[in-house]
Amino acid sequence: MKGTPMAPAKITLSDVVQLLAEHEETAARTLSLVPSENAMSGLAKLPMLLDPYHRYFFNETDDPDRWHFRGAQSLRDIETDVAIPLLERLGRADYVSVRPLSGLNAMTLALATLGGDPGSTVVTVGPGNGGHYATPSVAQRLGQRVEFLRGPDPHSLDLDHAAELLRRVRPALVYVDQSHCLFPIDVAALVRVVREASPETLVHVDASHWMGLVLAGVFPNPLDAGADSFGGSTHKTFPGPQKALILTRDADIEKRIRETQDYLVSSHHFGATLSLGMALLEFQEFGPAYARAVVGHTRSFAGLLAGRGLTVCAADRGYTAGHQLWLDTERDGIAPGLASDRLYAAGLKVNFMAGLPGFTGQGMRIGLNEAAYQGLTEEDLPELADVFAAAVRDERPAAGLADRVAALRGARTPLGAALPEAAALLDRSLALAGRALGAHAS
Ligand SMILES: Cc1ncc(COP(=O)(O)O)c(C=O)c1O
Repeated sequence: MKGTPMAPAKITLSDVVQLLAEHEETAARTLSLVPSENAMSGLAKLPMLLDPYHRYFFNETDDPDRWHFRGAQSLRDIETDVAIPLLERLGRADYVSVRPLSGLNAMTLALATLGGDPGSTVVTVGPGNGGHYATPSVAQRLGQRVEFLRGPDPHSLDLDHAAELLRRVRPALVYVDQSHCLFPIDVAALVRVVREASPETLVHVDASHWMGLVLAGVFPNPLDAGADSFGGSTHKTFPGPQKALILTRDADIEKRIRETQDYLVSSHHFGATLSLGMALLEFQEFGPAYARAVVGHTRSFAGLLAGRGLTVCAADRGYTAGHQLWLDTERDGIAPGLASDRLYAAGLKVNFMAGLPGFTGQGMRIGLNEAAYQGLTEEDLPELADVFAAAVRDERPAAGLADRVAALRGARTPLGAALPEAAALLDRSLALAGRALGAHAS
């Protein structure tokens, strides 16, 4: 056992508040270019500070006999009449589950519900084509066999191979996931192959990375493309809380998801669900313009980095169609870990990792989604690219570069905060936050 039972912690509450304060100060001067993260408005975060954060909510049907947990009763409509209908509209679905806590939790729920009994087969996207690292392992832990779709290159699938595989293994489910992704899989073409080769097989698309682009209508909707269901995280390209969704038009799938989810999710984090409702109310104002900016900025930024001599992958295809870019800094003579350290010192946070499709060593994965949410415009990109390239090559002192990033951040307003309603609600929100912190007691 570490330490003695009642020995005081080395870090006090006061230290923690100091660390939080310093973190906030730094975060406001920096930019996250991590494609799996995003930000959301302070207003949308409010429910997570307030009483509903502590409440369970299981009574979506408003059945008077099901109010076993009554704490969420007065706020029920924010989930059932705001979040769910907005998701049904933006996701072009007839049914939505907002119960998953994260993309991985939604994956587990989808595989457990649709992937068949132990011994059945799930076909998913191979790691060489950007499939999520956890999908095969989750399916195997559920007793399912796993086979992989593969492609002639990291960005497309071999549909002839898919047809042959599907005919041979007759899977219960094709789970279409892309974690490292520059271009969306052509779901419509894949669904056609599935229907022809193995008509009993269901198709679920895990759109964790693309969710904001799909809900904004800028990326194809998987249900329009013929998938039976889709789902994924609400905090990557969608600027929302860390949660996830499953959407479908199929009443039977909805029923099966509902029956399974009670055994994989208990509390679905009601405070975060209310935050999701608020983030969706905001997103319906700025969503399409934001999503177009994400896609446009990411592609422009790729060209700007390439123009400054960095190796950006998939140049022959226009680098990207979405929010991710992959950089091969090893080719430029700089280890990605070192490049990432230098960028961090300059106020830019990036992913570096092994396992990017087509890479033998490590690579760098960046995304412009959060920067677009923070309000950066096309005009800001040359300056951002100058700072980025100078930091990677260690051409200028980090402190000066960090000041330039802070200036970019400071000059722009996050999209949620820029909404006229946010300003009008500031006093009431501050009063609520103050009350949650005990200010009413003094
Ligand atoms: C396709 C896919 N599914 C699931 C996940 C896991 O999502 P989360 O981190 O929200 O659990 C990710 C995360 O990158 C992903 O890319």
